[in-house]
Amino acid sequence: MESPKRKGIILAGGTGSRLYPVTKALSKQLMPIYDKPMIYYPLCTLMLAGIREFLIITTPNDKDAFKNLLGDGSKWGIDINYKVQKKPDGIASALILGEEFLNNSPSALILGDNLFHGENLGKNLENASGKIDYSTVFAYKVSDPERYGVVEFNESGEIRSIEEKPTNPKTKYAITGLYFYDKNAPKKCKTLKPSKRGELEITDLNQLYLQEKKLKVSVIGRGMTWLDTGTFDSLHQASSFIRTLEKRQGQKVCSPEEISWRLNLISNSELEILAKSQEKSGYGKYLLDLLNEKSHHY
Ligand code: DAU
Repeated sequence: MESPKRKGIILAGGTGSRLYPVTKALSKQLMPIYDKPMIYYPLCTLMLAGIREFLIITTPNDKDAFKNLLGDGSKWGIDINYKVQKKPDGIASALILGEEFLNNSPSALILGDNLFHGENLGKNLENASGKIDYSTVFAYKVSDPERYGVVEFNESGEIRSIEEKPTNPKTKYAITGLYFYDKNAPKKCKTLKPSKRGELEITDLNQLYLQEKKLKVSVIGRGMTWLDTGTFDSLHQASSFIRTLEKRQGQKVCSPEEISWRLNLISNSELEILAKSQEKSGYGKYLLDLLNEKSHHY
């Protein structure tokens, strides 16, 4: 029997209060990272990992704005569903909200403000995504691990411990906002108790998997980039990183139109229509130029 396909959940709620007043009237995950809305980046990461069915979790206020931007996904050959999180009661609550959508499938949960980039990212993620009997978290070396979930390894490179925002981190390896779970995640999340800050903590879910020896860690190497965009400075840095890369290479990072075309989810004529509707900004011109390229290869 063919194993069920992994489905994607993008968590794009939260108050965005660390970016007030900018995010008072606009969702953080709709803010630009240089030339695209923030949510394009996690969406493309999951598309490159082979995921085609998505649930986007938003605040009640922002749902319509996300729908206006992304629609039902058919323009990019994918399927996008929506769900509202009434209040930001924890990252793990996303899996409970997504239970019906997941329908017993394994999941890929990504935070809407996380940006991943690098050679072979898609292939590496696709490989990890194929492992459906256990769950996988991704670790990345950072200079400020105390801001994140932190993982400690044993001699064989397996997980020894995980701690959420420890004052004295045991390593410099942060757990990124991308998680591949087996099909049991929603059930497990329902057993979690809210933390002191009143949230269902994703680190507590990971602890459960760890206790059952069903959690693996995959280290994202230094040749890859992982950025989160939770403060004014990190938002600006992410924009300037993307701008520098795109100007140098003449290639866009995380354009869903381009990726769906390269993955053969949409045809040349469908790409052309998408391009023409955005020609004035230069974004559409970039897409039109792709059609003149000789091959689909990167
Ligand atoms: O970015 C990776 C880190 O994300 C991990 O290393 C940590 O283990 C994990 O707890 C998380 O830490 P943060 O402090 O960054 O989480 P934050 O509360 O800022 O939420 C991350 C994003 O998820 C944010 O853009 C808002 C959204 N969110 C968060 C919560 C708690 C929601 O949409 N709903 C929620 O209920």
